Amino acid sequence: MSEVTDMSDSSAVFDAKPIAGAAFGIEVATDLSGTFSEPEKEALRALYRRDGLLLFRGQKLSKSQQIAACDIFAPALPEDAIENFIVSNVEEDGVLGDRELLFHNDVPFVPAPFLGGALYALEVDAGVSTTRFANAMSGFEALPDDMQRRIEPMNAIHVRARAFTRRSKLSDCEPQDNCAVHALVGMQEDTGRPYMFACMDMTAQVIGLSEPDSDALLEQLFATLYAPENIYEHSWQAGDLVIWDNLAIQHARSEIVSGRRTLQRVTMGKWGYWEQCPVDLPTFDELHEQAAE
Ligand SMILES: [Fe+2]
Repeated sequence: MSEVTDMSDSSAVFDAKPIAGAAFGIEVATDLSGTFSEPEKEALRALYRRDGLLLFRGQKLSKSQQIAACDIFAPALPEDAIENFIVSNVEEDGVLGDRELLFHNDVPFVPAPFLGGALYALEVDAGVSTTRFANAMSGFEALPDDMQRRIEPMNAIHVRARAFTRRSKLSDCEPQDNCAVHALVGMQEDTGRPYMFACMDMTAQVIGLSEPDSDALLEQLFATLYAPENIYEHSWQAGDLVIWDNLAIQHARSEIVSGRRTLQRVTMGKWGYWEQCPVDLPTFDELHEQAAE
């Protein structure tokens, strides 16, 4: 395993630089609708591994082109997968509506949470709700050594978001809900870099601790993970594509109070959600119902 610590090799292939004024993330100037050689793909993957988040501006992509671009970084789910959907507060086929989304990894409550996500801005009014990203790799590195050692052997249980305005707990779950246990410290594929795997939205409890002790520990971890210096807030412009490592990077958004906001979402993962939870097909209908509320 080799840790990617600088951008020099990839910058020789692409015009890539840290996103201006951001805590993390790399902006790459290239047209993702094109085709890439294997060395170019590896250079892009090296940039992706470094910060877990890349920004490409000024793109013009069909859904299939977006999927092909995502597939460079991790296996993208197929075009007809329902994990590839429109996030919108205005389009009829859009999901998630206007509501706030607390910091989360996507589907941490299944055995194999998605590997990555990508949002491509189709229509975004100026000043419309941003997307915030928190880096759980640098978040882990910022913890004191004794805290790193304390949480390394720990596991936590993750549940579906049911509370929405605060962290969901086991007692918030519906009887049919899934949940999953994952290590509190994950390792980034290919680099072995550790990251915290606990989120504000869906991490119910640390295994083996009382609920008060678990709450206290999670609060301590979140204070570092969600510190302002560990967050990148992306203000959308049409044509932006942001792609991120769903395990090492978390995302959130505020309530959309005004403006049109339509993003094309593509998901990367070894398995889709419904491949892992085939009895949970009503969930997709629920997403649409929430959007319609
Ligand atoms: Fe999400």
